[in-house]
Amino acid sequence: MSVRAPLPHDAARLHVTGQARYIDDIPTPAGTLHLAFGLSTVAHGDITALDLSDVQAAEGVVAVLSADTLAEMPDCSPSNHDEPLLATGRVHYRGQPVFLVIATSHLAARKAARLGKVDYAERPAILSYEDALAADSRFENGPVVWAKGDSAAAIKTAPHRLSGRIDMGGQEHFYLEGQAALALPQEGGDMHVHSSTQHPSEIQHKVAHALHLPMHSVRVETRRMGGGFGGKESQGNALAIACALAARLTGHPCKMRYDRDDDMIITGKRHDFRIDYTCGFDDRGRILGLDFVQMTRCGWAQDLSLAVADRAMLHADNTYLLDHVRIESHRLKTNTQSATAYRGFGGPQGILGIERVIDHIAHSLGLDPVAVRKANYYSEMVVPLAGDGVPEDHVNAVTGDPLTRGASEAALADDTPAPTGENTTPYGQLVEDSISKAITASLCESANYKARRAAVDRWNAENPILKKGLGFTPVKFGISFTLTHLNQAGALVHVYQDGSIHLNHGGTEMGQGLFQKVAQVAASRFGVSVDAVKITATDTAKVPNTSATAASSGSDLNGMAVQIACDEIRLRMEMFLVERFGSNDVRFADGTVQVAGQELTFAQAAQLAYENRVSLSATGFYKTPKIEWDRVAGKGRPFFYFAYGAALVECVIDTLTGENRMLRADILHDCGASLNPALDVGQIEGGFIQGAGWLTTEDLVWDETGNLRTHAPSTYKIPVASDAPPIFNVALWDGPNREDTVYRSKAVGEPPFNLGIATFLALSDAVSACGPAYPALNAPATGEEILRAIARAQA
Ligand code: MTE
Ligand code: MOS
Repeated sequence: MSVRAPLPHDAARLHVTGQARYIDDIPTPAGTLHLAFGLSTVAHGDITALDLSDVQAAEGVVAVLSADTLAEMPDCSPSNHDEPLLATGRVHYRGQPVFLVIATSHLAARKAARLGKVDYAERPAILSYEDALAADSRFENGPVVWAKGDSAAAIKTAPHRLSGRIDMGGQEHFYLEGQAALALPQEGGDMHVHSSTQHPSEIQHKVAHALHLPMHSVRVETRRMGGGFGGKESQGNALAIACALAARLTGHPCKMRYDRDDDMIITGKRHDFRIDYTCGFDDRGRILGLDFVQMTRCGWAQDLSLAVADRAMLHADNTYLLDHVRIESHRLKTNTQSATAYRGFGGPQGILGIERVIDHIAHSLGLDPVAVRKANYYSEMVVPLAGDGVPEDHVNAVTGDPLTRGASEAALADDTPAPTGENTTPYGQLVEDSISKAITASLCESANYKARRAAVDRWNAENPILKKGLGFTPVKFGISFTLTHLNQAGALVHVYQDGSIHLNHGGTEMGQGLFQKVAQVAASRFGVSVDAVKITATDTAKVPNTSATAASSGSDLNGMAVQIACDEIRLRMEMFLVERFGSNDVRFADGTVQVAGQELTFAQAAQLAYENRVSLSATGFYKTPKIEWDRVAGKGRPFFYFAYGAALVECVIDTLTGENRMLRADILHDCGASLNPALDVGQIEGGFIQGAGWLTTEDLVWDETGNLRTHAPSTYKIPVASDAPPIFNVALWDGPNREDTVYRSKAVGEPPFNLGIATFLALSDAVSACGPAYPALNAPATGEEILRAIARAQA
């Protein structure tokens, strides 16, 4: 059985030997032209004069396009039609593309792009939360409010109350391969586009729109991305449209890639958030009433901001049952890059909000933060598995033991009284699959929490300069697109007469290992090894109308679509063999087909089926069941299920310099019954480190003119290998998804990102050892911020 095998990434060898092809590696035809944008140098203003004569005259320049020369300005937005390819009269952020250079080389285009002379009548720039609130500059008319119960009354009557604020920064995606596209004009005006995108169908749609072509005339292909992390859901549109437009105008193939600085200056990032909270709670730290005000800077265009802000609200509860809660969300429009999708899609910001509240409560009551968390968890319901139960093959990939429900003795033995209210989220979804208690019990035991807590306290009592801290974060992450219709996928599978299999589906590969997982599903359906399965590029001409590979749902959706396509072909082969051999007993296993006591190789069976005119090609289509969501009311079941996990992190800080590092991280994460434990562990490790980077070293600094000052690795610090904790234990929770997903696995792409919050809480805990006051650490917890927080703790 190929599924559950810990196989390496299918392209791992190609990646490390440099043979994997990215957009910039695709051999281009003679005459290919190269593009670069000229960028706005002010954050907000009207263009009063545009002199591009020096650009035009520069060496190698073929043409220059701007709002003055284009009869019609294409739109690049994913949703709101508010992103002209090039500024039309007004600029809205510093870095916005104003003109487009088409030249004979990449370097010539970039050099010429510096030569534009643009005059602006500057307007006041809206940069901060305060600026935006004062100007009432926002998307949607006012704040969005969702509520459950009566938080105001509950807070008022609670034995204890507190309130506070946390500021958290955004995050640059820092995919290793920057944004890139290549457009190849075809006969009859058709266009073939290679794009580094998570969303080929949207590129197809936007290019077709820009060129006034039907979608059938535009074909978009994506073999792989060198990382996307959400930054290639919508931010690749501009490059693909620019290339297609330039290719149409010049008749030449056109290619564009941003260099790192341009990429950071032009494209959107994670949304920064400010969250204010007021909370009423009891002596055990049980939350009785909670108010959140979430504010986020969405930047100049809407992009995916409404859905991101929604997801932040949908994760304001994390793993905690809240009977009385009110969440108010402000989506502010600012003169900055248009903030966009980034791993977790607002979820991490929402979760950090309530993790801060819990931490603050524990500090104010002098209670163990893990105990306060447990007192607030959703109940673990003992609900039978949905669907057809667990198939026989559901065994632990490592031990071979059968997988069980997992909601465990530890949870049942837990003496924490169950909360009293209905086990529903603030938006009314029943939480049937919580395993937070069990995961917490198991992780605290394997990571030796109690003893280490005592050791850290002892260390801090004895050491005046270096302080240690422990941070614990549980995670519950909702799986499904909240825009319900996106939860669909298609696949196209061919079996050739030699038994080799061609696999295609709508998902894209960005390093997460989706293609390998899906190939394992295909191999398992036919009982062959994955080597028999050819993984092919995502192609809008093979599978149409696809959703972005996002919301972590790539393997859930495409894995199922592929399973359905394979089963269709297998059924046709079976029916033929039954008839041919006069036996109902047909088995596909180990590269063979066994029928009526005979053994054929899979290739022989395919050959025989072909010769008997059996169709060996099929499409598959899947849509997620059970979900429904009313986003205006904030009620429904937006998520098919939740993915769970927990992390315990130990950190040390130098109280004189603010320097800090992780000493140890222990993670227990729920992938359901893993499709591929090696790839899943990779996602967990990478997600955790990326989450920790967001909250520690990755600092986006805009100056008072709206200029992003941290636009290269010289000033913007992502974690490197040496930042990983020297002790790093990652284990997979062992239990099938209670919902009927592909082989009972769970999505893994984004949930573990949230585990990085444990690192932030560990730093906060270390700072708390410096003084009696709550330090109210903000993110990112850079050395400077840690020093400021120490001062607050000591005040
Ligand atoms: N892992 C790698 N190596 N590179 C990436 O770009 N993107 C993340 C996550 N893991 C990403 C990654 C994001 S934002 C998402 S939504 C999921 O992968 C998408 O893939 P999946 O749905 O197949 O999990
Ligand atoms: Mo991931 S942020 O959903 O691309």
